[in-house]
Amino acid sequence: MSNPDSARRFHYLNAMGIQTWLRRGQGGTNAVMSSPSSGDPVPASAAHEASSPLPYNAVATLDWMHLRQRVLACTQCALHKGRTQAVFGVGNQQARWMIIGEAPGADEDRQGEPFVGRAGKLLNNMLLAVGLKREDAYIANIVKCRPPNNRDPQPEEADSCAPYLQRQIALIQPKLILAVGRIAAQNLLNTTATVGALRGKCQRYGEAGIPLVVTYHPAYLLRSPKEKRKAWRDLQLAREIAAPVLPNNN
Ligand code: URA
Repeated sequence: MSNPDSARRFHYLNAMGIQTWLRRGQGGTNAVMSSPSSGDPVPASAAHEASSPLPYNAVATLDWMHLRQRVLACTQCALHKGRTQAVFGVGNQQARWMIIGEAPGADEDRQGEPFVGRAGKLLNNMLLAVGLKREDAYIANIVKCRPPNNRDPQPEEADSCAPYLQRQIALIQPKLILAVGRIAAQNLLNTTATVGALRGKCQRYGEAGIPLVVTYHPAYLLRSPKEKRKAWRDLQLAREIAAPVLPNNN
């Protein structure tokens, strides 16, 4: 495999659990063939201001520092009662790619960072498969506090958190939003359609019409590895839309 791009993609696709082969005598990008794998990828493993009387709609004007303080001190919905800490979001504030998940789980609640558990490791590998390092993207969730027993966030909880995510998106102005999983997709697109119906095409978010690609949640992919091939296609679509993320245009 002489082509370093192919070698890198080969490595990360295998890390995603998508087994790959190269056609004999070919080393280019299109030479990579994939097949479903039965195995999962190797699991690798504030400041707080008072919850102030600042008008809720003023969130749309906050800078990063004050937005973060608001989120970390938020008591707008009952989820704050069970959290260790709110999970604000992480990554490059000038990112081209914004990854939006559902809600913090136990690991995220403990560490204060989205997607740091087993699903997060798979997400990292999914991003690397299209040449994107985790730290080059911005990663956030629909709700910032962990729902009890990892249940789905309720609509009123997602609504309470929506101004925070809207402000994060407005500050970043990403070229592409990758919505991972049903809760993210349905909330961002204001629909009840399934991931299966929403994935595979370029959707649009908000008044600015930011391109949005829906894919499966990495936690679901860990349970249903056969769907990783579809997720890989979604990532390729996202890469086409978002354009260059690495100096070598990978
Ligand atoms: N699942 C999510 O949707 N978000 C996280 O941050 C972790 C797991």
